[in-house]
Amino acid sequence: MTQALDGKVALITGAGSGMGRASALEFAAQGAHVLVADYLAEGGERTTAVIRDKGGDALFFQVDVTNPAQVEAMVKKAVDTWGRLDFAHNNAGIEGLLGPTAEGTLENWNRVLATNLTGVWLCMKAEIPQMLSQGGGAIVNTASAAGLHGVKGFSAYCASKHGVLGLTKVAAKEYAKQGIRINAVCPGPIETPMLKRIVDVSRVIAPDSMAGATPMGRAGKAEEVARVAVWLCTEAASYVTGVGMPVDGGYVA
Ligand code: NAI
Repeated sequence: MTQALDGKVALITGAGSGMGRASALEFAAQGAHVLVADYLAEGGERTTAVIRDKGGDALFFQVDVTNPAQVEAMVKKAVDTWGRLDFAHNNAGIEGLLGPTAEGTLENWNRVLATNLTGVWLCMKAEIPQMLSQGGGAIVNTASAAGLHGVKGFSAYCASKHGVLGLTKVAAKEYAKQGIRINAVCPGPIETPMLKRIVDVSRVIAPDSMAGATPMGRAGKAEEVARVAVWLCTEAASYVTGVGMPVDGGYVA
């Protein structure tokens, strides 16, 4: 059976876990060839194996998104393997250490900004020239509801995610006439290993209050974000660019 993304090529960073894994599975389910990128091999290999078990086409590539040479090599791998790059979901991110702004460390600040913000910029910097050379493409960056409003205890994280939205909007305007659409997803609390770590490690947020803070009264599932990320890349979203789309059960409403 023909699928919506047959023959297309997608790369997803942070695809060894949580929302990145769900996104990789969704792109593959819709027929795309998928480069599963993550800095942890175990999770990335697992995602790749699951896709192949389901009859999809995937390859794992180990990358640290803070490393420009590795990010360049990641894009090259997708192009060398499948000849092009149609979609990129720049999703890798970390929560870092949580706590009041004045008590944060420079080391933590730099690590969170390097991964969540500089990492997304480096990925786009490598992906966009390839997409321009083919006449177009679509990029989705993972921001956060914490990119739309402040969350106590998450200063570096919030700053990085607000930055991702700014970067997304600028790049969307710059490349709109050249056939590249660039959007972001802004997930609310989503059931992933990251959310579990935040809840376990910090007392900043209690799980019940977090889920309770969403009008739907529950945390989201990784697949619920993945479906939106993939939709933003499809022709169904052909007039959508520069958007930071909440996927949050009404949380930021
Ligand atoms: P996760 O921790 O389950 O998965 C993140 C993945 O990114 C891991 O596989 C990790 O190895 C990879 N990664 C981390 N740093 C990397 C680096 N430097 N290079 C390459 N890969 C790296 O987290 P989750 O929840 O799936 O998060 C995915 C994205 O969604 C992140 O950007 C996160 O900030 C964002 N987000 C998460 C929310 C949640 O409630 N879980 C809410 C809003 C946004």
